Amino acid sequence: MSLYQAILDEAPSEDLHFTSINLTDRKTVWQLDGSAGFAAKVTRGRGAIFVCEKATALTLEALQASFAPFGVGEAVECDASQYILAIGILDDTELMLLGRDADVTASPVEFSPTSDDIRSIVGTNSDYYYGYEDRYRTVYEEGARLWESAEPNASLLQMIRERPDVFSGRIIDLGCGEGRDSLYLLSQGHDVVSVDVSHTALDRARELAAAANLDASGFVERDIIYLRGFEDNSFDLAMNMGCLHMLVEEEQRARHISRVFDILRPGGHFIVDHCSGEWGKGFFSIPDYAEVAPDLVPGRVIPRRIRVADGEKNIGLEVLPYSERSGDALAEEIGRHGFSVVSSTHTNTEAFGSSTMLLFQKPAS
Ligand SMILES: C[S@@+](CC[C@H](N)C(=O)[O-])C[C@H]1O[C@@H](n2cnc3c(N)ncnc32)[C@H](O)[C@@H]1O
Repeated sequence: MSLYQAILDEAPSEDLHFTSINLTDRKTVWQLDGSAGFAAKVTRGRGAIFVCEKATALTLEALQASFAPFGVGEAVECDASQYILAIGILDDTELMLLGRDADVTASPVEFSPTSDDIRSIVGTNSDYYYGYEDRYRTVYEEGARLWESAEPNASLLQMIRERPDVFSGRIIDLGCGEGRDSLYLLSQGHDVVSVDVSHTALDRARELAAAANLDASGFVERDIIYLRGFEDNSFDLAMNMGCLHMLVEEEQRARHISRVFDILRPGGHFIVDHCSGEWGKGFFSIPDYAEVAPDLVPGRVIPRRIRVADGEKNIGLEVLPYSERSGDALAEEIGRHGFSVVSSTHTNTEAFGSSTMLLFQKPAS
């Protein structure tokens, strides 16, 4: 068994040595090393991990290219010629380390490029991950039970009516948020894995699952850009309901789409519901679009409507980065990765406003 698989499974064995380290803060850069290679997995929080070559001097460009944020349950393996630099993105981030020899070490270090350079790379990326976590936390602190509605997406229900046959086998809900679609599918007896980067939203989804006597074990923290730990050809249906439009960098979108292609079995389907224009128009949380439209700029704070116990209220929330794509542009972008378009429908929902819902299929062979 590879170290990677062993750490994912946390499989105890006589020749494997588990240790655990706490990245304590968001400032210290840690060097993880082992003479015979080792694996590392995030068991609490979120960490930035850089896999570096021992034989090659560190450059800022190489670090920028190799940076990847890891959430709970995500693992990486490196061989004897490599070491890892790690820094916490959340306080109290914990890593599990696994090696064949007992010599895997973790120590705080200073580098050239400097630790400040490393922190600046992590900082820009961590804003993205904090954005979602902060959104859910803030709305709950403001008294909302949910940021999204408890009902499944209207567009999903439409797809189920039109193509019930594609909802079979193993399903993955990408960017599930508080789980409204996953919970509905679970209640209908489907086999669903649900992933998101926000552990606060996932906790809420698990609570809702437990309250409805549904299996909460399929809600896992994973980054849809990387989809680590999922085997190729292992899902029949992937659905991305309003999450791809939260990815604005072309490279990240491409990485996500190609990973979805990998994890789908031949002939499997991919549903995408993506904003097509006038982001925010028609959203439940933006009742007066005309008033806020000039401020729909990432980073600005605008009033958003939330549901609270005794009705509704407006709170100030930061606009997170978003992208808009016409249906044709999406079909072309996703088609580039080998998918064929099965259908494309314009939708207009309280969740995502003016959107396109596309159904794609991976070739059967
Ligand atoms: C607009 S919400 C939609 C949530 C859900 N699909 C629904 O319809 O209610 C977008 C979700 O994508 C998640 N998200 C954004 N980027 C992500 C990433 N890289 N990996 C996993 N989830 C991500 C956010 O945390 C958020 O829950």
